[in-house]
Amino acid sequence: MSLPTQAAQHPRLHQLPQTKQLKALMTIIRDQTTSRGDFVFYSDRVIRLLVEEGLNHLPVVNKEVITPMGMPFQGVSFEGRICGVSIMRAGESMEQGLRDVCTSVRIGKVLIQRDESTAQAKLYYSKLPKDISNRWVLLLDPMLATGGSAVKCIETLLEAGVKEDRILFINLICSPEGVLAMLEQFPKLQIITAEIDESMDVQRYILPGLGDFGDRYFGTE
Ligand code: URA
Repeated sequence: MSLPTQAAQHPRLHQLPQTKQLKALMTIIRDQTTSRGDFVFYSDRVIRLLVEEGLNHLPVVNKEVITPMGMPFQGVSFEGRICGVSIMRAGESMEQGLRDVCTSVRIGKVLIQRDESTAQAKLYYSKLPKDISNRWVLLLDPMLATGGSAVKCIETLLEAGVKEDRILFINLICSPEGVLAMLEQFPKLQIITAEIDESMDVQRYILPGLGDFGDRYFGTE
């Protein structure tokens, strides 16, 4: 079985429904001729779909309400509280999509960069909600390539007391190698993604990918 198929079939990998609409949105953001305005607009649409899908994986409890017709309705409400954590800088592009869906949601940030002397991902900055250990965490980073930054970030979250099975890692495109490595290293982690690509190049850019997400989103190409 090919690596992309293995990744796609992993039980803790949740891919968005592969609709024609999603394919059209992804085609626009992958196109090298797409303007920055359109890149931001259509990426935001995919991010919105991803956040909504992430919420589908949160636990709920039964809740009865009375409708304006005076009748009971047997519904549900979310059981726990959530927060976002974005991996700077590209992950910050996903914050608004989370806020659009979860009003006044708390959002922590981490800055992780490769230490050139050790070639290891190094944590430079983190600011997390104080009560993060009691929350579900939507971890935001648009591209999962090797997973080096995401692994470091998850280690930081675990040190802060977050339970591994309460972390949902949300990204737009992932490499199959990144997915399989992360899900093996963290046996309770779940990943929500739009598409799984073929591979990576020698500089660890995803192929076919969409280039550098942060540069295209923030206009720093
Ligand atoms: N980050 C990006 O922005 N693009 C890739 O292809 C990989 C990591």
